[in-house]
Formats: sequence, C-alpha cells, structure tokens
Amino acid sequence: MVNDSDLMEDHREVDSKLDKLIKIISNGEIDPELFMQISNSLKRHIYIEEETIFPSVSQGDNDMSKRIVGLEMEHASIWMLLDRVEKEISVRDIEKAPKYIEEINSILKAHNEQEEEKVYPLMRENEQYSNARIHDYNIPEGWICHRLRRKNR
Ligand SMILES: [Fe+2]
Ligand SMILES: [Fe+2]
Repeated sequence: MVNDSDLMEDHREVDSKLDKLIKIISNGEIDPELFMQISNSLKRHIYIEEETIFPSVSQGDNDMSKRIVGLEMEHASIWMLLDRVEKEISVRDIEKAPKYIEEINSILKAHNEQEEEKVYPLMRENEQYSNARIHDYNIPEGWICHRLRRKNR
C-alpha cells in the first residue's frame, strides 16, 4: 500500500498541473495531453484511496465512515467532471471545459485538505503497509469510483 507522503506528493503534482492547465485555458486553448495526464493521475489516486486507504481507516469508526462517504461523493463529482471535459475534447468543443476544470480545482482544495488533516494521519497508526508506490498501481479495466456505481448505494 502507498504511504501518506506519496499521496500528498500526488496532490501537489496534480495541483501544479491543474494550475498550468488553467493558465492555458485562460488563453482560450486546451492541452489534451496535459489534461489526460491529470485525469489519469486523479482516477488512479481515487482508485487507491477507495480500494485501499478508506476501508482501512473507517472500520468500526462511525464518524470516519460518514466522512469517507462525503469524500467518496466528491470523488464521484470529480470523476464526472473529468469525463465531461474528456468528452468535450474528443468532439473538439471545449465550451464548458474551463468551467468544469475550475470546479475540479475548487473541489480538490477542500477535499485534499480534509484527507491530509483527518484521514491520512490515521494511516500512520497502522503499520501494515508494504512498499508499493503510487506509480505501481493501475486501475483495473472498467473500474469506476464507488459512488458512481448504482448497485453500491
Ligand atoms: Fe480523495
Ligand atoms: Fe487524495
């Protein structure tokens, strides 16, 4: 499993790429390759959190379970917005992409802060994590975040 500093580093990396993309977009352009890097990183990050981190910190803790539900809802919003931007890029009509990317950016600010302050510290108390790094993870084919699965609600 990844450790908290890997995850925080991933937050910073995506933040700086998003800043870069927002600058490009403010000139009325888009960088599809940079966007796909951001999208792939975010989805992999969400996958790791929902499949490995969140289950390990929420067990038997009601307040934490509620917090995790909120964080997973935000993952779902981010995921949907990423898909919308990708769709716009694929049909070469990026009318709403700037708005969507701004939304992703603003959700992430509070989201990442909450994870770093309230969720990741609990990982430190568990010592069962092995040495896997973030870049070792690949999202399994067809995996989507928990709150976008109808049957999972
Ligand atoms: Fe997250
Ligand atoms: Fe995160």
